[in-house]
Amino acid sequence: MSAVAEQTTRLADRINALEESSTLAMTKMARELAAQGHKVISLSVGEPDFKTPAHICEAAKKAIDDGFHGYSPVAGYPDLRKAIADKLKRDNNIDWKPENIVVSTGAKHSLANVIQVLINPGDEVVIFAPYWVSYSEMVKLAEGKSVILDGAFENDFKVTAEQLEAAITPRTRIVMYASPNNPTGAVYSEKELREIAAVLEKHEDVYVLADEIYEYINFTDEGHFSIGSIPELKDRVITVNGVAKGYAMTGWRIGFIAAAKWIAEGVEKLQGQVTSGTNSIAQKAAVAAFNGPMEPSIEMTKAYQRRRDLVVGLLKDIPGFKVNVPQGAFYAFPDVSYYFGKSDDTTTINNSDDFSNWLLNKSFVSTVAGSGFGAPNCIRISTAAADEALVEAVGRIKSAVATLK
Ligand SMILES: Cc1ncc(COP(=O)(O)O)c(C=O)c1O
Repeated sequence: MSAVAEQTTRLADRINALEESSTLAMTKMARELAAQGHKVISLSVGEPDFKTPAHICEAAKKAIDDGFHGYSPVAGYPDLRKAIADKLKRDNNIDWKPENIVVSTGAKHSLANVIQVLINPGDEVVIFAPYWVSYSEMVKLAEGKSVILDGAFENDFKVTAEQLEAAITPRTRIVMYASPNNPTGAVYSEKELREIAAVLEKHEDVYVLADEIYEYINFTDEGHFSIGSIPELKDRVITVNGVAKGYAMTGWRIGFIAAAKWIAEGVEKLQGQVTSGTNSIAQKAAVAAFNGPMEPSIEMTKAYQRRRDLVVGLLKDIPGFKVNVPQGAFYAFPDVSYYFGKSDDTTTINNSDDFSNWLLNKSFVSTVAGSGFGAPNCIRISTAAADEALVEAVGRIKSAVATLK
């Protein structure tokens, strides 16, 4: 056994059981190929290609000059929690006080905190699939059991209230989903969420973890609906959101939960022992984001919608691809299973992992296999890139699949 392999076996079981994030793994491989001199188009990473708006950057610079250099309160600065409470009232029709808000190091951290705080070993977490890669791994870390419900392609990858009803057992503790969704771009409508809420009203021990990180990147006429705004369910909904996607602030690492006080206190207690309050400068920037003008976010969303139209149109032209029309976020999620079992001169494609790896090595376009998202027939293509790069990338994909027989 090599020294590294021997050491790996000494890692805690919970770490050995964990999958590596497939999005981060693909991005790493793409970077390595680019470093070797290949002209890689990287469409695997889930982040805006825009810069953080200037007024937010200015607030961060001012925070440094004003001396916000020390530890912050574990749950976040009072002005940030107030700005978030105001935002929730304004945008989401959710009425929580600052004391119901806990700020963390990104929405990812917020989600992981809630699962740690509410899940005992063996508790079930119902996850609407396709789902974001980290959900099932976070549940695994808490020794919970993921119960995956598949949203059908024909239903725009959305799970129905009937499916949920059939999946709830006495062990169910949390139902979690993202809308707008990563990886599909699906948006649950108010009607669909009210149907889901009607099912959940009957199950008083079940909580909802509503991941709304893509809230502002929504192309529907109806706009965003928050399940936490339904009064009958309010105390059992944990709304998670942040600044990463809507304000192009992925690197600043600010997320939050809004929830009943006992849940917020549980998260604060956990965070107080693990990370403490998150970055002080980024918190001040987030105050400027939530209290500031929305025009930059609206402009970014317009660009994502235009690129969605561009990419979906091009993908639909590729023989064998089945393509939904994403209603939000910045991904396309074609079903490529038509090519499973087919080969070029060197490689046979048996699944979405093969497809994605093959595409990267053959055409230097990095995508992410759907398998990590609970959708093994699909690949995820980020549309957060310049138009020319998107056109070039889809052109390369089309030429590559033409060699599969
Ligand atoms: C669905 C979903 N939830 C949460 C996150 C994490 O957001 P943050 O960068 O704020 O941790 C992401 C990031 O890709 C995401 O796609």
